[in-house]
Amino acid sequence: MSSPDLRLWITGPLALLALGLALLSQPPAQAAGTAAAADPVKGQAVYMANCMACHGAAADGNGPAAAALKPRPTNFSSAAWWEGKDDARVRSAIKSGKPGTAMMPFSQLSNDDLTHLVAFLRTKIKP
Ligand code: HEC
Repeated sequence: MSSPDLRLWITGPLALLALGLALLSQPPAQAAGTAAAADPVKGQAVYMANCMACHGAAADGNGPAAAALKPRPTNFSSAAWWEGKDDARVRSAIKSGKPGTAMMPFSQLSNDDLTHLVAFLRTKIKP
């Protein structure tokens, strides 16, 4: 057997194996318009990049910038704050911001980001 043939015998199956593994590791395709399942871990990444400076790493309203703000950033670990607020209300507060406060509108966040963010914030509620 000449060596080019041998190489084909080895690389052929290896390439197929790699392709199979790549296909297997793909997340399931999501139908267009379907909302992503809430993922607090993804929400935490969005939070750390956009919200932590004010609301704090523990989401308790004590970020590095909080001391200079009036009113102070919301403390999401407070169960009392969440009372009577559903996800839709909190999402729209994030998207629209709060006039008269440092809470700016985050209209650039996708609906999926908002879903993940609210799921993350809920993990911070202290019983
Ligand atoms: C520049 C500082 C700052 C940043 C950055 C910031 N916030 Fe705020 N946030 C505030 C302040 C100040 C308030 C007002 C608190 C109040 O009115 O008592 C607030 C209020 C809120 C509220 C409550 C709004 C309401 O109607 O009472 C939510 C929800 C919120 N922030 C979520 C977020 C999320 C999520 C992010 C990141 C995407 C974020 N904030 C980024 C400062 C900030």
